[in-house]
Amino acid sequence: MISEKLQNAINEQITAEMWSSNLYLSMSFYFEREGFSGFAHWMKKQSQEEMGHAYAMAEYIIKRGGTAKVDKVDVVPTGWGTPLEVFEHVFEHERHVSKLVDALVDMAAAEKDKATQDFLWGFVREQVEEEATAQGIVDKIKRAGDAGIFFIDSQLGQR
Ligand SMILES: [Fe+2]
Ligand SMILES: [Fe+2]
Repeated sequence: MISEKLQNAINEQITAEMWSSNLYLSMSFYFEREGFSGFAHWMKKQSQEEMGHAYAMAEYIIKRGGTAKVDKVDVVPTGWGTPLEVFEHVFEHERHVSKLVDALVDMAAAEKDKATQDFLWGFVREQVEEEATAQGIVDKIKRAGDAGIFFIDSQLGQR
């Protein structure tokens, strides 16, 4: 059985994952309007992945005898600048999420809840990938410059 404190903290993380999902969906819509259909496609997939994280966390809480909650999700931004700025924002956001996940691991460790620590390590690893992917795209866009931006757009459209 999961403690109420951990259950509530993971429920908050579910809300954070749903917020991330909405953030990336909003970025997807933005890119679509700006004519970057590849980036839009990439963001839509990313949005689905974040929702998948929320599902996995809810499933875990329920398996451990807790109650998963769908809470109110705050509004997300709707306008950005260049593709570089958008992906820099993604990178910063993922760094923030990594800190949230780390804090959850600390809480599970303090409670000596091994199963929850084990579950959360998966997300620690996931965040390493998320940060590296975002950083990689930022680097690619910087190297491509204005002339290469539509090439990167079509590459990300293959996701
Ligand atoms: Fe996530
Ligand atoms: Fe993420």
